[in-house]
Amino acid sequence: MCGIIGILGGKAVAPLLIDGLRRLEYRGYDSAGIATLSNGAIDRRRSEGKLANLADLVDRDPIEGTIGIGHTRWATHGRPSEANAHPHANERVAVVHNGIIENFQELRRELEAQGHVFETETDSEVIVHLISEQLNQQKTPQDAVAAALKRLEGAFALAILFAGRHDLMIGARRGSPLAVGFGSGEMYLGSDALALAPLTDRICYLEEGDWVVLDHGDAQVFDETDQPVAREVKQTALSGAMIGKGQYRHFMQKEIYEQPAVIGDTLHSLINPMSRTVELPDVPLDLGKVSRFTCCACGTAHYATAVAKYWFEQIARQPVEIDIASEFRYREAPMPEGGVGLFVSQSGETIDTLSALRYAKQQGQTILSIVNVPESAIARESDGVLPTLAGPEIGVASTKAFTTQLAVLACLAIAVGRARGTIDGEQEARLSQSLIEVPARVTEVLQSDAAIKAIAADLIYTRDVLYLGRGLLFPIALEGALKLKELSYIHAEGYAAGEMKHGPIALIDEDVPVIVCAPSGPLFEKTAGNVQEVRARGGAVILISDRAGIERIGEYARHCIEMPAIDPFVAPILYSIPVQLLAYHTAAQKGTDVDQPRNLAKSVTVE
Ligand code: M6R
Repeated sequence: MCGIIGILGGKAVAPLLIDGLRRLEYRGYDSAGIATLSNGAIDRRRSEGKLANLADLVDRDPIEGTIGIGHTRWATHGRPSEANAHPHANERVAVVHNGIIENFQELRRELEAQGHVFETETDSEVIVHLISEQLNQQKTPQDAVAAALKRLEGAFALAILFAGRHDLMIGARRGSPLAVGFGSGEMYLGSDALALAPLTDRICYLEEGDWVVLDHGDAQVFDETDQPVAREVKQTALSGAMIGKGQYRHFMQKEIYEQPAVIGDTLHSLINPMSRTVELPDVPLDLGKVSRFTCCACGTAHYATAVAKYWFEQIARQPVEIDIASEFRYREAPMPEGGVGLFVSQSGETIDTLSALRYAKQQGQTILSIVNVPESAIARESDGVLPTLAGPEIGVASTKAFTTQLAVLACLAIAVGRARGTIDGEQEARLSQSLIEVPARVTEVLQSDAAIKAIAADLIYTRDVLYLGRGLLFPIALEGALKLKELSYIHAEGYAAGEMKHGPIALIDEDVPVIVCAPSGPLFEKTAGNVQEVRARGGAVILISDRAGIERIGEYARHCIEMPAIDPFVAPILYSIPVQLLAYHTAAQKGTDVDQPRNLAKSVTVE
């Protein structure tokens, strides 16, 4: 979603702001802009579309100044256009805003009645006028912001610039994250640490309701009651070098190829390879005594919890409920005593997942989370955190975040099984060993990349694609379909193979490819039957299976993708790779914007 950068520095700030916005592009946006103080006056450049348009504009019409704010906007209120692009400003104040101001219509009416003239269709512009109104009443910028913040309902992260004040920038957060960066004689604001990575490694995350006053050397943080508070400044491990594409054409491709390493890092943090036991770092409860796990997440992270449900039930005989966070948060679900709320999120900032977490907390659940951003709100509000060590994921499509989430969930299922006494040491060692071998198997699967690219060439002209899987592979069918539609804009649906006869079979004809994820194992013969049914109706099967599976039914498929023979327990992690590659190559060959598909945002911080 929208991205913010603010720089209070000593050098020409425009190129630094545009660089910062480039690092925020991955969040998804449809317009961008910057504002600086040029000889004390607010100056702005904004443009619709990609950042390249803004960079061109600034080349043609340079903008001076050493202090400035920048924004990438993902439209919510008001269409994507130059006029609606941030920063919003008048002659006194410039503001960039992430989030949604829920009471903007009421505030706008009130401000218009006081003579303020609005230029945009956005909710954000009210913030400019609210602050200006306070300044008109002779308040200092700090007091004006403090008063304005109290009028806002909804979610926001803000960076605010004041005409004539080269030494002042104010930030605020409620609901949307905001980080403060400390440089030497320079200060920064960023909607995430990635934006600030090449500028500083000293970061402080504002807490809910905080606002901050920056000058050249320091930051003074206030809480929501305007009391000064101390917030910890942390060293971040992110560096500018981590966010390049390297030899790859797209971030997504790079991230697919990082999976052997990051799955390995994640597993090494949780499995002792000598004893082949799972050792979880931060779980503040007795895993053997959990009445129920309630797992909530969105999108791809939800599919990770769907795999986990099978693992927890099969390995640990543990009752588990899973739900999409946006549904769960309003369902008023009763939650059992002794229950755990388990929240899975790459960004750790997804608003629905965070809200579901807060609901579960009110219901007395112990809160565990699996996140990729350790400083995120979801991590901070959890009783225990199991981090995925995927590193920054820039491509909007979740790839390495998903497989590392699966790695953590698999370890958690083993730990729960051990604690509940449903598996013994030997079974734990076997399951741990099969996980330890996953990175090497992923490397093998990646060797099929060229073959998968050739198969993808067949998909680019299709209108609909079906994905089928059973048991642990059902969520992978759902994930494959989500990946294909979000990247290539081809309509795709994932189904439990056994459901096919209950409706989707009507869709099958020679124009509808059916991608079947079917490793050898107890459910293989059932899925083999579905393959025959698809063939009988002229459908073209793309079979993803191991050698034994391909020998058995490969002759009925138009294409086969051969996978290594593996323990069925780890199949969901391995079978994620070909579905990622199929979606990636289909989109790349179609020429869609792979890393920033249209309309999508990397982390969804508004409802
Ligand atoms: O940051 P989160 O893991 O909470 O994000 C959840 C979803 O928005 C995310 O997985 C989304 O579905 C991806 N674009 C899928 O590739």
